[in-house]
Amino acid sequence: MMQFIVFGNPIEHSLSPLIHADFGRQIGVNLQYSRSLTSSAQFNRAVAEFFRTGGGGANVTVPFKQHAYAQVTHVSARAERAGAVNTLVPLGAGQLLGDNTDGLGLVWDLQRLLGASQLTGKRVLLLGAGGAARGVIQPLLDAGVTTITVINRSPERAQQLVQLWQSPQLVWAPAATPEYDLIVNATSASLSGDKLVLGADVLDAAELVYDMMYGAKPSPFLEQAGQYTQMTADGLGMLVGQAGFAFKLWLDGAELNLNETLERLRAEL
Ligand code: ATR
Repeated sequence: MMQFIVFGNPIEHSLSPLIHADFGRQIGVNLQYSRSLTSSAQFNRAVAEFFRTGGGGANVTVPFKQHAYAQVTHVSARAERAGAVNTLVPLGAGQLLGDNTDGLGLVWDLQRLLGASQLTGKRVLLLGAGGAARGVIQPLLDAGVTTITVINRSPERAQQLVQLWQSPQLVWAPAATPEYDLIVNATSASLSGDKLVLGADVLDAAELVYDMMYGAKPSPFLEQAGQYTQMTADGLGMLVGQAGFAFKLWLDGAELNLNETLERLRAEL
């Protein structure tokens, strides 16, 4: 049986085993996908041991994505740009490829919500300047968005991110103004129960407000956004999307129906 795993801390609520079990069911492959609670000190050993014993592929989640990036022997261009790795692919002889499918997952979900070509020409407001924000910038630009404006609680972190990118399409702003088509929350504010506040005019001008967080209930941020904007969505679709792109890296050519997995998962939340 093929073995897969996700490394993180905390990890007990990870939905990845459910998602990948559904992918296995779809393509008729019997696989095992488990969760591994690890620490920074044990991460390298746990990863090496998993692949030494024949592991077929692994995901990496909070807080080890940057750690994994520093650890792998090969890194994809996407992961390089993100400075973080969420997918490990064994290359044999102890070599590991680190890739990052988070941004692809977001783009897949935005295209599902808006229609395939609808990202072209869009102006995006990206809230947050941490790892989650950095991971989605290049895939959004590749998908055709015109500009991404980053705003962040600590402005200097947003400025650093923009400086690192060196692209006229990625800009920083001190505060939000009503000129964005898409608003994407990549902060961890809802994790700590904090409320992000955007002006009603900013929300009203947007076509879609997206929160990378997900849960059985909408986050306070999405609840507020829902009062003003046409469409809101949480990050469950992004989660399924990133998993789908990871699975295809491990099982080349797998034909997946991500919409079907997303519907099943939503019903189980
Ligand atoms: P991640 O990998 O999830 O992005 P991170 O690198 O710690 O985690 O970044 C967290 C992001 O959420 C940052 O942009 C952070 O803002 P700061 O750079 O000012 O710390 C943002 N964030 C976290 N809690 C927040 C809150 N209560 N309000 C607004 N932004 C918040």
